[in-house]
Amino acid sequence: MTLHLIGIGLNDEKDISVKGLNIVKKADFVFLENYTSRLQVSVEKLEEFYEKKIILADRETVERKTDLILEKSLNKETAFLVVGDVFSATTHTDLFLRAKKKKISINIVNNASILTAVGITGLELYKFGKTTSIPYPEKNYKPETAYDVIKNNKELGLHTLILLDIKPNKNMTVNESIRILLDIEKKRKENIFTEKTMVLGCARLGGDYKIKCGTISKLEKEDFGKPMHCLIIPGKLHFIEEEALDIWK
Ligand SMILES: C[S@@+](CC[C@H](N)C(=O)[O-])C[C@H]1O[C@@H](n2cnc3c(N)ncnc32)[C@H](O)[C@@H]1O
Repeated sequence: MTLHLIGIGLNDEKDISVKGLNIVKKADFVFLENYTSRLQVSVEKLEEFYEKKIILADRETVERKTDLILEKSLNKETAFLVVGDVFSATTHTDLFLRAKKKKISINIVNNASILTAVGITGLELYKFGKTTSIPYPEKNYKPETAYDVIKNNKELGLHTLILLDIKPNKNMTVNESIRILLDIEKKRKENIFTEKTMVLGCARLGGDYKIKCGTISKLEKEDFGKPMHCLIIPGKLHFIEEEALDIWK
């Protein structure tokens, strides 16, 4: 029997590929990894379109109860659905390696990812540096990693894609991420992320997207609407990239 790792795209129930859909329709078990990204539609809508019951796999299930998913794949056709692409941003390498060790047959069905959908902005994908993320700050946990990554990428003239935190009941907005970075700037004072820094806010790429390019002071108050959101800090711009960014100003 086979464990099928299937990317289901960025927007709605119809973004799954024909190949992926055919597998889901025939699968004995269908898991949906639902803690690293979300579609614009409900799980019920997916179930209706796939004509299958979906088992939600939260972080606990995927990271600590991997055996449960693997056990099912030993004897049954099991589909493990990932929003976006299977190994993009969220790697799921652990699940893949453990399945390999157990000699479970694995089938991968790729799809679009946020890592490439940002190409719509006109920024060259080849010129993105390290991708980073911003988690919701907690009382004793206020990481400054994103600030350092922006700094390092800027030094090399590279663009930075920043992915934003998802919690069961909330999704970080562009505005929240800007405030967090401004707070770090206030503390560090290294002139990396100031009111004058040019950024791009992106929402719902692959669907009814909204993209806005401007200074922090402008974008701080912009309403990007429903999730998912991400933030991009452009590096050194080629004149074609500059022309493309004008569209979003
Ligand atoms: C950890 S990544 C998951 C990547 C996913 N496996 C993929 O390939 O797209 C999830 C983050 O990417 C960003 N993101 C995902 N989909 C998006 C979309 N359609 N538009 C804007 N940002 C998105 C959000 O910041 C979200 O928290």
